[in-house]
Amino acid sequence: MTDRTWEGDRREGYALCQPPQGRNPTVSATGVFWYDGAGERRRPSTGHREAHGMDHADHVALIRGGVPGPGGTWADLGAGAGAFTLALADLIGAGGRITAIDRDERALRQLATALAAHFPAVTVRPLVADYTRPLDLPPLDGIVAANTLHFLPPPTRETALTLIHAALRPGGRLIVVEYNIARGNPWVPHPFTYDTWETMARQAGFVGTRLLARRPSRTLPLSSWQSPRARA
Ligand SMILES: C[S@@+](CC[C@H](N)C(=O)[O-])C[C@H]1O[C@@H](n2cnc3c(N)ncnc32)[C@H](O)[C@@H]1O
Repeated sequence: MTDRTWEGDRREGYALCQPPQGRNPTVSATGVFWYDGAGERRRPSTGHREAHGMDHADHVALIRGGVPGPGGTWADLGAGAGAFTLALADLIGAGGRITAIDRDERALRQLATALAAHFPAVTVRPLVADYTRPLDLPPLDGIVAANTLHFLPPPTRETALTLIHAALRPGGRLIVVEYNIARGNPWVPHPFTYDTWETMARQAGFVGTRLLARRPSRTLPLSSWQSPRARA
């Protein structure tokens, strides 16, 4: 990864959910690229601006391979304004249940509005919380963690993975969407490559980790990975 790539990242403003301090405070945190609006368009199916230079169909495509079928009880960690909650809701459909967790209450209000508008048959519970601490969740069939684990420094990340593993039913699965890079920057402070993820997941007790999808993003290459929890 070259420094030039990092410069590109800074110019385009990756941190759509945690605006760098002092940057344009009038822009909402809902997937708006506030440094450089080039390429913004509307999502055809949700009416929301694209996030990460992608639209709703791209989000669905990234996680589709890890979602076994309709229904189920899921959580979206660091859900933000709901780009991947919308994708998950699209995939699990009516009867599915999602707890959308974020410490950003305003983002979760936006998420709730978007989900109610586009997937009213999916039960969504917004939960303002820090997912690195124990949470009161039902046993989960699956967890999505998209563009959020890279905010956790290694010791906290390992603690979170232990909690995530414990929150899943045997045979449940964790879907991670991350930039497949090794060096951090102010907006993606603690990234990890897919190879590193395989090791981290195994150490946390997950089995059969596999790469689901890759997508070149406008900023950095984005990938999704699935790590199932072993059956009892
Ligand atoms: C870059 S945004 C990603 C949002 C969404 N998953 C997406 O891909 O569009 C990262 C989100 O993780 C949340 N987050 C980071 N650390 C968290 C923590 N420990 N507990 C809860 N939310 C956290 C932030 O508040 C932010 O909304």
